[in-house]
Amino acid sequence: MNILVLGSGGREHALCWKIAQSPLLGQLYCAPGNGGIAQIAHCVNFDMDNLAALVQFCQEQQIALVVIGPEALLAAGLADILTDAGISVFGPSAKAAQLESSKGFTKSICAEYNIPTAAYGWFDKAADAHAYLQTHPAPIVVKADGLAAGKGVILAETDEEARAAVDKIFSGGFGAAGASVVIEEFMQGEEASFFALCDGTHALPLATAQDHKRVGDGDIGLNTGGMGAYSPAPIMSDELIAETLTQIINPTLQAMSDKGIPYKGVLYAGLMLTQTGIKLVEYNVRFGDPECQVLMARLQSDIVPALMAVAKGDIRDVQLEWAQEVALTVVMAADGYPENVKKGSEIKGLDKAAIEGVTIFHAGTKIENGKYIANGGRVLNITSMGESVAVAQKKAYQSIAAIDWPEGFCRRDIGWRAIARETQTPK
Ligand code: AMP
Ligand code: GLY
Repeated sequence: MNILVLGSGGREHALCWKIAQSPLLGQLYCAPGNGGIAQIAHCVNFDMDNLAALVQFCQEQQIALVVIGPEALLAAGLADILTDAGISVFGPSAKAAQLESSKGFTKSICAEYNIPTAAYGWFDKAADAHAYLQTHPAPIVVKADGLAAGKGVILAETDEEARAAVDKIFSGGFGAAGASVVIEEFMQGEEASFFALCDGTHALPLATAQDHKRVGDGDIGLNTGGMGAYSPAPIMSDELIAETLTQIINPTLQAMSDKGIPYKGVLYAGLMLTQTGIKLVEYNVRFGDPECQVLMARLQSDIVPALMAVAKGDIRDVQLEWAQEVALTVVMAADGYPENVKKGSEIKGLDKAAIEGVTIFHAGTKIENGKYIANGGRVLNITSMGESVAVAQKKAYQSIAAIDWPEGFCRRDIGWRAIARETQTPK
């Protein structure tokens, strides 16, 4: 069967890499793709303002399945358009994608179905938000309701910062995403990412992962899309996974089904393990990036039947096998990321860096005159496997040492929490 993947990041390269291993695959297409994806898929370009052209392409190329990577396309209703045209799609409808595109929507569901999460208020007027802040002192979390590319969350350490965040959001600081504001209790604890395939009714848990959101070593500096990740997340015991399913994921699927907007796709729960139990931080309606890279590295089963089962609305027969080994990925970013990214530098040495046990996924790269050129903020994901996080980390940095790209950087401590745990409890 022919498959089209939409997106251009490391997440989509990892998905294409895994799909390309399937014996069920005919032709693999990716739009727009990147320099790495171009090695394994036919990259095509669409004007995303002209979705009719995309639908026509799917019909002409007999695309049996479209896999949508980024949330913006889902929130814009691309899955609905494809479904209406009779094309199978992996990814939720726009209404179901509200689990990511409206933080207030998700909080309301949590309140209605008793799903553990931070206490909150949801406001569409600045005056009401300010009144709430009067009785809820800092530290407190202020969030633009809508999609803001990960930037709409302000962890306010002082009352003044909280008030300024409310004003920034209501004065258009995050565009349309800031039409309303969610204010939340500040939760403390360790975070983990949990992924489940959902067919509208059932959830099939995937592996767990932890990412590193801050740009600097030791988890300091600005928030980013993610500077590295590993799977599994040692903090997620079997008990916690079961609790996440019964208290968070299953009631959410029930809520969505009750509301007539069943959730089909991968559901990514950002979790926080607090002193009073596991709580939902937020939902995403897509795979995490770079978490997807470590999940795909560990997935041993063919992914295509699983993606298809989600699209068709019945995952009950799907069983997935995962490698026992740890997967770890280190993100290499262009200097200046996440603020003023410097694009256009040449990346050399990728052949030498492809050592055993390492797969290099591309994010912001393009090929020009046979050379790899940095073309985005996050550029490469050096993904390794090993019997422990420490071993996988060593391999990833060994590979990175062979990459000749002076205009790029990476964190040097990906996996540090897990490695500290491994040191405490040797296998
Ligand atoms: P989000 O974009 O909602 O994932 O938020 C980005 C990051 O902000 C999360 O990964 C957490 O580290 C942090 N965060 C969000 N909400 C809270 C909260 N209620 N308490 C503490 N930290 C939070
Ligand atoms: N790595 C975090 C995200 O994909 O949202």
